[in-house]
Amino acid sequence: MQKGEAPEKGFRPHFPHFATNAIHVGQEPEQWSSQAVVPPISLSTTFKQKAPGQHSGFEYSRSGNPTRNCLEKVVAALDGAKYCLAFASGLAATLNITHLLKSGDHIICMDDVYGGTNRYFRCVATELGLKISFVDCSKLKLLEAAITPETKLVWIETPTNPILKVTDIAGCAQVVHKYDNIILVVDNTFMSAYFQRPLDLGADICMYSATKYMNGHSDVVMGLVSTNSEDLHKRLSFLQNSLGAVPSPFDCYLCLRGLKTLQIRMKQHFSNGLAVAKFLEANPRVEKVIYPGLLSHPQYELIQRQCTGCPGMVTFYIKGELAHAEAFLKKLKIFTLAESLGGYESLAEIPAIMTHASVPKQDRKVLGISDTLIRLSVGLEDIEDLLEDLDQALKAACP
Ligand SMILES: Cc1ncc(COP(=O)(O)O)c(C=O)c1O
Repeated sequence: MQKGEAPEKGFRPHFPHFATNAIHVGQEPEQWSSQAVVPPISLSTTFKQKAPGQHSGFEYSRSGNPTRNCLEKVVAALDGAKYCLAFASGLAATLNITHLLKSGDHIICMDDVYGGTNRYFRCVATELGLKISFVDCSKLKLLEAAITPETKLVWIETPTNPILKVTDIAGCAQVVHKYDNIILVVDNTFMSAYFQRPLDLGADICMYSATKYMNGHSDVVMGLVSTNSEDLHKRLSFLQNSLGAVPSPFDCYLCLRGLKTLQIRMKQHFSNGLAVAKFLEANPRVEKVIYPGLLSHPQYELIQRQCTGCPGMVTFYIKGELAHAEAFLKKLKIFTLAESLGGYESLAEIPAIMTHASVPKQDRKVLGISDTLIRLSVGLEDIEDLLEDLDQALKAACP
């Protein structure tokens, strides 16, 4: 990229009407007798019926809630989907999707996924009789080789967390859909609906930990699941009600509010993330930087083909050992030492001893999650302040 060029040059064009949809879809004032412009937070758990068994669209707040409805409609529009369902957390969404399967079924999960997803499949789903294989699905041949007659679900996360390896969603869809009845799920948490539309690329389900960019303000834990399949939607709606892991109306309101600025937030995350990645790449105290928006990323061409841009997730290896990584994190002043990502504030962590501590040590080694790997969630602060903070912490940690 030349100086002065827009960071998104060369990427897929942005999805039309994105910001307009985020602000208006599902939120028409005419749906409320009050004509409220901002969707009301509907706290009532139960709804009056006209006659026994004759309700006006809502019966009980677990099975349907007016505020949640607004959120589900707008997220469906942002994902280019027919349907969306909201859940109490990203992992609750994962749990509901997994309940589409039965004992004996086989799941193929990307080898480098969020630690909690790995833990859920490895320690919980297997106890219920599901079989699980962790596979590097960025290599389509490995994915195809792992498919068995029992395979019913393929779970990919792209870019992966925290190594930011990119998987070809359309390529995976082609492989998976050669077989009957295998559901391809993409965890789209890192990209958000603004930068990546997995359903357009052939995925059956797009899911999010909305706790991250979709809400974007680090004040809601939530999961979202979009699909174009009427059958999957029916089955997931049944599970949403039957398992009961639904978000509160207040959280739905907050997420609706967060989505209104998703477009402008993501543009700024991209701009700040790229600036941080370039700064680190030029820094002598840094071993290696991984950022999908950098020309040096091994899958830069695929990212440009698949995405409209990149978020604020930057990972890098600091020179030295764990002590240097720890010292760096302790010296940061604006970046907060904390887990999670995707909020307006900048965060920093060491995956090996924080978010990914539950991934077995040997697996971490294979994936490259070493003690010197640092993950940054670059927020929306002034870029000069962020770069100055990184600079002073690197100098203090590696004199
Ligand atoms: C990529 C990804 N998927 C899923 C999850 C789980 O979501 P939640 O924490 O909302 O349950 C996380 C949480 O960090 C995540 O980063």
